[in-house]
Amino acid sequence: MAFMKKYLLPLLGLFLAYYYYSANEEFRPEMLQGKKVIVTGASKGIGKEIAFHLAKMGAHVVVTARSKETLQEVVAHCLKLGAASAHYIAGTMEDMTFAEQFVAKAGKLMGGLDMLILNHITNASLTFFNNDIHHVRKSMEVNFLSYVVLSVAALPMLKQSNGSIVVVSSLAGKIAHPMIAPYSASKFALDGFFSAIRKEHWLTNVNVSITLCVLGLIDTDTAMKEVSGKINMKAFPKEECALEIIKGGALRQDEVYYGNSQWTPLLLGNPGRRLMEFLHLRRLDINRLLNN
Ligand SMILES: NC(=O)c1ccc[n+]([C@@H]2O[C@H](COP(=O)([O-])OP(=O)(O)OC[C@H]3O[C@@H](n4cnc5c(N)ncnc54)[C@H](OP(=O)(O)O)[C@@H]3O)[C@@H](O)[C@H]2O)c1
Ligand SMILES: *[C@@H]1O[C@H](CO)[C@@H](O)[C@H](O)[C@H]1NC(C)=O
Ligand SMILES: *[C@@H]1O[C@H](CO)[C@@H](O)[C@H](O)[C@H]1NC(C)=O
Ligand SMILES: *[C@@H]1O[C@H](CO)[C@@H](O)[C@H](O)[C@H]1NC(C)=O
Repeated sequence: MAFMKKYLLPLLGLFLAYYYYSANEEFRPEMLQGKKVIVTGASKGIGKEIAFHLAKMGAHVVVTARSKETLQEVVAHCLKLGAASAHYIAGTMEDMTFAEQFVAKAGKLMGGLDMLILNHITNASLTFFNNDIHHVRKSMEVNFLSYVVLSVAALPMLKQSNGSIVVVSSLAGKIAHPMIAPYSASKFALDGFFSAIRKEHWLTNVNVSITLCVLGLIDTDTAMKEVSGKINMKAFPKEECALEIIKGGALRQDEVYYGNSQWTPLLLGNPGRRLMEFLHLRRLDINRLLNN
């Protein structure tokens, strides 16, 4: 009972307050005006829609993916929509040297960085795991490791601007889902890594926000082709999805839920996990750790 009083009730209060507070904060498109933003995986799908929204809001954008031709079209359209500036740098996120150099070049093109939107993934297909270790490794490298490399390269610039990292993940990064084990593993890894780094930023007063986006099924060409005839689930529009991702980043929210049932945020908000994270944080001897 004492435990209940001491921890559980205040925490429950905080938890609820957090939800209502974050839901009530207001987004204004002007928040992105003149901001310097990188979008990865922006040649098609959700990434492309993110770039278009940013362009309309008057942001500077640098987009990347492998296919140069489609990136050129995205950049041309961004300029038409009103982007403060728009550039592309093509390359593969299988190559960590490219990932690192890409951020440096993008930062130079824009003269800094306010928001890093990590969105690309390697191709996946819905199948039972068939011992394809190569695909597991590739998924971890492209969907996870390159995100770490990109954010490490971007952090000095993001610290200067009090910027934001936005990580696009999936329901499959929060719940186990058959037929996409390697993809799911890479998305869980993003939660583990970036949620831990978010706590480190908090502990060390680094004012760079980290937003994890938990998406349901979105109507991109890739996803629609892959699920047709295999999954019975409503697909949500990629344009609105892209806007919710930008909003979450601009409002510096910890997590964004889009394309799920209305109960998903509540169920996956996971008070058990939050409570244990809070209790574990209390066990750290912060002062000693900071002085080492
Ligand atoms: N659509 C959904 O239903 C859904 C659901 C949950 C989460 N999500 C998440 O949303 C994000 C975007 O998904 P989407 O459906 O928009 O995907 P998409 O349309 O297939 O776009 C993927 C992007 O990644 C790029 N890409 C692929 N391989 C790459 C590589 N090796 N190096 C660099 N870039 C590469 C692609 O361009 P190139 O081929 O030109 O390289 C493309 O721009 C992903 O993180 C995904 O996990 C999507
Ligand atoms: C990904 O695409 C490549 C090239 O088109 C193909 O060889 C590979 O089998 C695909 N992998 C998966 C898991 O779909
Ligand atoms: C970043 O935030 C700090 C306060 O945390 C403030 O002093 C500083 O001016 C801000 N810098 C920018 C570029 O917004
Ligand atoms: C962190 O940066 C944001 C965006 O510039 C600013 O609104 C906020 O006040 C800063 N927070 C702290 C604690 O400095």
